[in-house]
Amino acid sequence: MEKVSIKKWDEDRFKHVLDEALTQYPTGREIDLDEVVAYHHSIPVHKNLPEMLAKARREGKTLLNPRAGVADLNEMIDILSDLQEIGKADILPINPDSFTRTEQFEKAAKGLEESIEKGHSMLNGFPVVAHGIKGCRKLFESVDRPVATRTATPRSKILCTMTIAGGATELLVGTLSLGLCMEYDVSPEASAAHAQFVARLVGWLHERGVKINLETVTTASAATLTTPSLHIVTGIVDSLISAYQGAKYLSVAFAPMHHFIQDIAGLRMQRLLTRRYLDRFGFHDVSLAQNIHQWNGAFPENKQQANGLLAMASAVAALYGEAEQMMVKTADEGYGIPTKESNIEGLIITRQVMNMLRGQRFPDSDEVNEESKFIEMEVESMIEKMLEMGEGDILVGVIKALRLGTYEYAYGVSKYCLGKVKLLRDATGAVRYLDIGNLPFSNKIVTYNKEKISERKKLEQRDELLMLIDDIREVRAFLS
Ligand code: 5AD
Repeated sequence: MEKVSIKKWDEDRFKHVLDEALTQYPTGREIDLDEVVAYHHSIPVHKNLPEMLAKARREGKTLLNPRAGVADLNEMIDILSDLQEIGKADILPINPDSFTRTEQFEKAAKGLEESIEKGHSMLNGFPVVAHGIKGCRKLFESVDRPVATRTATPRSKILCTMTIAGGATELLVGTLSLGLCMEYDVSPEASAAHAQFVARLVGWLHERGVKINLETVTTASAATLTTPSLHIVTGIVDSLISAYQGAKYLSVAFAPMHHFIQDIAGLRMQRLLTRRYLDRFGFHDVSLAQNIHQWNGAFPENKQQANGLLAMASAVAALYGEAEQMMVKTADEGYGIPTKESNIEGLIITRQVMNMLRGQRFPDSDEVNEESKFIEMEVESMIEKMLEMGEGDILVGVIKALRLGTYEYAYGVSKYCLGKVKLLRDATGAVRYLDIGNLPFSNKIVTYNKEKISERKKLEQRDELLMLIDDIREVRAFLS
């Protein structure tokens, strides 16, 4: 494996990795990047996601993005058409199936065949690679919105390349988030090499006039609980990794924990601090957007409870007012793969709340300022430590940080995550550090978190661990 470095890949390395990836499956050989450039130049502006994000920013709007993925192309066309026409989705999704995301392309192709035979989807998503350029473009050309493919994987380079070849103008990247939260045994080095390839591909296309947005899905960490500072650090590191490879349109994700003060402070600081670090490393020309994700943790089975949850995150997004994009969830989430119908309901619920709160902004307050101050201190402690350990190279730094635990995900599924950090809600529901593990925090930060947690302990008089278990389960368990 090449030596890990934040530096831009040279053409030889990029082309070598690309060629290797595209020979993994027959449809990969159909891809010719010069032809892909020409195809993207023929796509109308209103179907290009970076263009639509810029428009949303100018108009103060938040674009709504549902999710969808079935095996069969015709069924997929029907779903996306209905999400566009009935759900009024601003961005249309493609969720690839797990086989494709984990590079088991033969199994995905077999699943597609079986699905057609049986008349219903035997895969948990759209097998992008099995459908190849022809199928992906047919899908893209059958709709009239930008398409975003949720390439939630720290591998499968052919999937990411095919996604773009098929017309999509957004995909996911994440050395930290995808590596640490999607897989048990993909090393940070391997995950970084994947993220760099994807960003270099997008950078290469940008140099030829093609605009593609890369979203850093920091919210994979929010499948249980997360703090704003852990989110923000992930987004900063991954944004820098992408920017070094020449990607110019970046989004960072944020998942509200449903504590208005902390969420609003987190969203504001995410924008400010990510911008600050991009500028510090000279990436003034990188455009930055935010994508708010509705609850990523365990969902209640009860549909009304689930819909309440969608409304909560929508309210946070509306009162923040600066996010260009939002991932919409559904009331099916507590059972399994969401249907088209529940995605349409989710879109309607979300739009209703956002429309009703339009024009209202969460006011500045001492509480928001205090949260913001601690978020800034926590983020800076983690990032500066990485930069110090990497001697200015944030990628080298983050890999060392993960090894030593000066950065980690709370409750990450990867074996490369130290697993020492524990989070707990305080008496008001804000998420605090119960155990900072090896995070490089000052006494001031530790004391602040301890004080907040002790207020709850006084109120509830319960064991910390029991409170922690409740916090992880409560959103699903409330009332039921
Ligand atoms: N169709 C619809 N939604 C999907 N998700 C994952 N795969 C699909 C699919 N094929 C949703 C999950 C979760 C989010 C990460 O994506 O239900 O909400």
